[in-house]
Amino acid sequence: MTNVKEMEKSFYKDVLTGLRSVPKRLEPKYLYDYRGSELFEEITKTLEYYPTRTEMRILKKELNSISHYIGDDAALIEFGSGSSEKIKFLLHHLKGIKEYVAIDISESFLLQSVEKLKKEHRHLYVHTVCADYTVPFSLPSLKAKKKVLFFPGSTIGNFDKQERKTFLNQMSTLLTKGDGFIIGVDLKKDEKLLHSAYNDAKQVTRAFNLNLLQRMNRELLANFIVENFEHKAFYNHEEGRVEMHIESLKDQLVTIGEEEVSFQKGETIHTESSYKFSVQEFQNLAKEANFIPKKVWTDEENLFSVHYLEVKA
Ligand code: AVJ
Repeated sequence: MTNVKEMEKSFYKDVLTGLRSVPKRLEPKYLYDYRGSELFEEITKTLEYYPTRTEMRILKKELNSISHYIGDDAALIEFGSGSSEKIKFLLHHLKGIKEYVAIDISESFLLQSVEKLKKEHRHLYVHTVCADYTVPFSLPSLKAKKKVLFFPGSTIGNFDKQERKTFLNQMSTLLTKGDGFIIGVDLKKDEKLLHSAYNDAKQVTRAFNLNLLQRMNRELLANFIVENFEHKAFYNHEEGRVEMHIESLKDQLVTIGEEEVSFQKGETIHTESSYKFSVQEFQNLAKEANFIPKKVWTDEENLFSVHYLEVKA
């Protein structure tokens, strides 16, 4: 599964399936090749993209309260990167974290980021699991009294209704009664703020989105002319989500590997959905998946929320 050749093959397959669907779509995970990950990092530093810095601010402000919920002998289990500022901050300040499990789909990235952490926290038990967390997997056996999952960044917002249900249920099966789940969830808010967060003035989000065309050119021998497409992001009120699309500016034919795909002027590829929730909406989801919402931390402007959930049974 982590085999690079295998991943490339499924990328090709998924691209052809996605671009032959009506409407055209591609899974958001494909936005994150090396360049895409760099661009996402850059997005988090733009003025308009509030989630990352707001979540970090909440973690800093609520450190004592978070520490109380984590307890004095916990294993923190993180999905995604092990190098983020958030995890470094928590490992540094929360003495109750005795063990750390990093789960990532990219093996090289995982090993690299964890080596550094090991050096900085010599007394910490560190495990790595190379897995795609959207499919079932199991955890290594752990020493700590309590397991706490950590899923920051509102990545849950990328999942559709069925996917997030499956994900939350899957997470609860990794835990036993009394274990916890710390999850960052972006909140519903003024549409103008949402719109500008995904349409930043420096056009980093645009570059991030259009990089997907360049990625297909690089990896699949496609011949997308990037200037013939445009970034499009807007809040879909009915669905409660920001949608990101790539719009074709003309009728055109594109070659991808050995196949051809046609685009009509104005037709779009849906590349990402980013669902927004009210605190109540998210807590209801959690309850449906065997969790008890124990605590929610937010910023003063109610832009972002961090939830502590406890698993019921
Ligand atoms: C990392 C998936 C939470 O949906 O806000 C940022 C990705 N897309 N700008 C999000 C993203 C466009 C981000 N997530």
